Amino acid sequence: MYEFHPYFTNDGSVGLYSSDFDDIYHSSTGALTEAYEKFILPINMDELLKKDSIKVLDICYGIGYNSKSFLNFIFEKIFLRKNKKFFSLPDKHIATIHTNKINHELDGIYNGEIYTDNAFDKISVTAIDNDKILAFLSPFIKTGEKFFKNDNFDFEKKNIGKYLDKNKKIKNQKIQKIINFLIFEKITQICPDFYTNEAVTRIISDKKYAKYFTSDIRGIYRGKISKGYITNLSGFLRGFLAFLHNIYYRHVTNRYKKELKHYKIEDIVFNLKIGDARQVIKEDNNLYNLIFLDAFTPSKCPCLWSYEFFKLLFEHLEQDGMILTYSTSAAIRSAMQEAGFHIGNIYNEREQKFTGTVAVKNSDLIIYPLSEFDLGLLKTSAGIFYRDENLTGQNEAIFAARKKEVENTDRISTSQYKKNFNKGELCKNTMS
Ligand SMILES: C[S@@+](CC[C@H](N)C(=O)[O-])C[C@H]1O[C@@H](n2cnc3c(N)ncnc32)[C@H](O)[C@@H]1O
Repeated sequence: MYEFHPYFTNDGSVGLYSSDFDDIYHSSTGALTEAYEKFILPINMDELLKKDSIKVLDICYGIGYNSKSFLNFIFEKIFLRKNKKFFSLPDKHIATIHTNKINHELDGIYNGEIYTDNAFDKISVTAIDNDKILAFLSPFIKTGEKFFKNDNFDFEKKNIGKYLDKNKKIKNQKIQKIINFLIFEKITQICPDFYTNEAVTRIISDKKYAKYFTSDIRGIYRGKISKGYITNLSGFLRGFLAFLHNIYYRHVTNRYKKELKHYKIEDIVFNLKIGDARQVIKEDNNLYNLIFLDAFTPSKCPCLWSYEFFKLLFEHLEQDGMILTYSTSAAIRSAMQEAGFHIGNIYNEREQKFTGTVAVKNSDLIIYPLSEFDLGLLKTSAGIFYRDENLTGQNEAIFAARKKEVENTDRISTSQYKKNFNKGELCKNTMS
């Protein structure tokens, strides 16, 4: 039976625990906060929005925080000047929405396990995960809870508490509900098996999980399951988006006004691809402006951190594109470097430290270069990368092969390197 272990992270967003990987999906500091800090804030939005189209690849979509945060950022910062409570419009306003303002067809096509939306792509987000159930659950996940308590059975049983520091609650984060509706709408359009997936139905109907789900989307889903017809959300949402666009275009931030001439909210395309990311990307011909890499830690899921995988990503990144990831490991950074990337740090202003890595083709895009120490680290045994020659290896085998290589290497150990480096620094300081 499919296992689902949700809990609230310290910013009020829902996090998950995986018993298969014995790992958490999200930072316990805050699933949503992490998505914003690692994947959205480091982006140079001004430059990005000058482009005619933006393509984002979200590797390891899970319940979608990175895609949702990106869409939410675009939506809030560009289409809304402030966080207006636009979704609580009275019914009489909704009734006046005209759907014929939409100028293109959003209906998607279904092709095997690849769900795609064939609208023209101004802003397109392609999300990949090999867990279909999670992806299907993604639009139901609550967008942020102000008052939350982790007191459910799964939480205790799985000892997720070890990941949480209860005293470390941080500012409540939220994603506009419209983003969940948008993703729900797209998934219902392009995934014919969405309403017939038994695990999804079981989880959505289970009262135990209700507090983690958005009640109105859960309501629409349950209505369809019990009554057998789909609420006409599609027409509603299309109209609603056009309506929002018309209203908020006038209020859009001046800073983005020029850029906005390219974009309309209904130009957003969301593709969902279910499968092993290596295979899906091999079969994909797109070049991306942004790639979010959010796999489980390298020791648990090395197949998505290998040198060969980064070579594959190199082939799929635009010349001025950027890969963003939370990992700062030397093995990952050296794999990126070997694959041809320039690498830099992601700086977290809240924590005032480096908390991730960017990989780019154009070194001018790096704002926080690696230090001399970090660059040296890549040459030590810690910098030996994972190998997955045909991009088909199993995680255990990939992990074991690297472990063996580290044990047999002539490279300097990390601890010795640190000692030498500190000694060198000491000499430099005493001489100056
Ligand atoms: C750390 S979680 C990602 C969390 C996600 N970004 C979110 O916002 O919920 C890692 C994800 O990788 C997926 N995954 C694991 N191995 C994969 C593979 N080989 N290809 C694609 N997805 C994979 C898991 O199903 C899981 O959802």
